[in-house]
Amino acid sequence: MGYPHKSHPRETPVLSKHFGDPEARTLDGWKARGGYKALAQALHMEPTAIVDIVKASGLRGRGGAGFPTGLKWSFMKIGDGKEHYLCCNADESEPGTFKDREIMRWTPHALIEGCAVGAYAIGAETAYIYIRGEFTEPINVMEKALAEARAAGIIGKNAMGSGKNIDIWVHKGAGAYICGEETALMNSLEGKRGNPRIKPPFPAVSGLFGKPTTINNVETLAAVPHILNNGAEWYKAMSLSSPKSSGSKLFSVCGNVAKPGNYEVVMGFSFKEFLYDLCGGPLPGRKFKALIPGGSSVPTITIEEAEAIKMDYEGFVEQGTMLGSGGVIIFDDAQSMPRQLARIARFYAHESCAQCTQCREGTAWMTKILERIVAGQGTYEDLDTIFELSESMTGKTICVLSDSCGAPVVSGINKFRGEFEALIKGRRSSTVAVGAR
Ligand SMILES: Cc1cc2nc3c(=O)[nH]c(=O)nc-3n(C[C@H](O)[C@H](O)[C@H](O)COP(=O)(O)O)c2cc1C
Repeated sequence: MGYPHKSHPRETPVLSKHFGDPEARTLDGWKARGGYKALAQALHMEPTAIVDIVKASGLRGRGGAGFPTGLKWSFMKIGDGKEHYLCCNADESEPGTFKDREIMRWTPHALIEGCAVGAYAIGAETAYIYIRGEFTEPINVMEKALAEARAAGIIGKNAMGSGKNIDIWVHKGAGAYICGEETALMNSLEGKRGNPRIKPPFPAVSGLFGKPTTINNVETLAAVPHILNNGAEWYKAMSLSSPKSSGSKLFSVCGNVAKPGNYEVVMGFSFKEFLYDLCGGPLPGRKFKALIPGGSSVPTITIEEAEAIKMDYEGFVEQGTMLGSGGVIIFDDAQSMPRQLARIARFYAHESCAQCTQCREGTAWMTKILERIVAGQGTYEDLDTIFELSESMTGKTICVLSDSCGAPVVSGINKFRGEFEALIKGRRSSTVAVGAR
């Protein structure tokens, strides 16, 4: 990563303000930067009052689905006599997404504070941070920060002298994309195979160990202390456009672009300005061609469509795609879209948990067809088969992994059909082998 991070003047660094500053990683350094004030305040509030502030702020889940966070928290019935759990989703395996690991690397106490506030607000005494196993450095940084917070009495029994108990534990995953799906994550935490569960029951009714559970993404939870410190109105007022999308958001940018990296902008920011000004535009001599803007699971768009986008949940949908996890993958005019989409399909085929037939067979079959087209062995009927397959893979499985395979591929064929047809007509091999960098 390109840190020490120097923000672009058009960025709004809330979560990323201390990226690249090693002192912010320590407890003393974090406190000197205003850390743990929100938790101290929260522990003397009614849990429902915290939920109301988060609701009023308009914060929506940053893990991909954009579900309103306060509403999700309100599903937890305080005082029902059951144990409650908070799970923090730090699996971050979505291709193109690399923001959560930076929050954990640079501001571990921000996440601990967010988890502690969240746990208290939903009536949980235990929170688990489920971190992708390959994230060695973030795991070590988080463990160290948790030990510091525990030793200082910030978390644990009688947290901050409040009489409330909040403990937070790190759990390492083993590098399976599917374990980022919320119910698969819970199975994995319980020591079972990380297979998604059928819903209902939803986690707020029966989640981890069969108890009411809330699950939130790292970025979602890390935003909460800022909302408590500055108020719901402050968070809402940051947005440049839709009242349904508030606050700032970290976008990870990768692919064929001059300045890849993480950028934090307010909701409603112009995507055109983002791509050309903040991210530096295309590489010398090249032009942007296509984007998959929300991690690899969302529909592919053309650069013309991208340039019209306002960067909020509604703005991406208006152009036929989604904000997703904010992982912006950029392809320039030197890229073969059939080859790129075949690589993406291969990823989903590899990561399918194989419980649902439509996903297990569909992702593998779609990959085979795409690789055949790339190798110059495809037919026009193959394109029809992909469309049919995608239909049977969408909305028909336990989780949305198979939908996520179809979405970028089908939209990619619709928008760049000429590239697929050229390979079919010419029956010639795409210049670079599938899977090659
Ligand atoms: C296959 C799959 C993988 C997912 N991976 C992640 C992930 O790595 N991190 C994440 O926060 N959410 C991931 N999600 C979304 C979670 O299921 C869930 O919606 C999210 O953690 C809720 O948090 P939020 O409301 O704060 O966004 C994934 C979903 C699916 C279907």
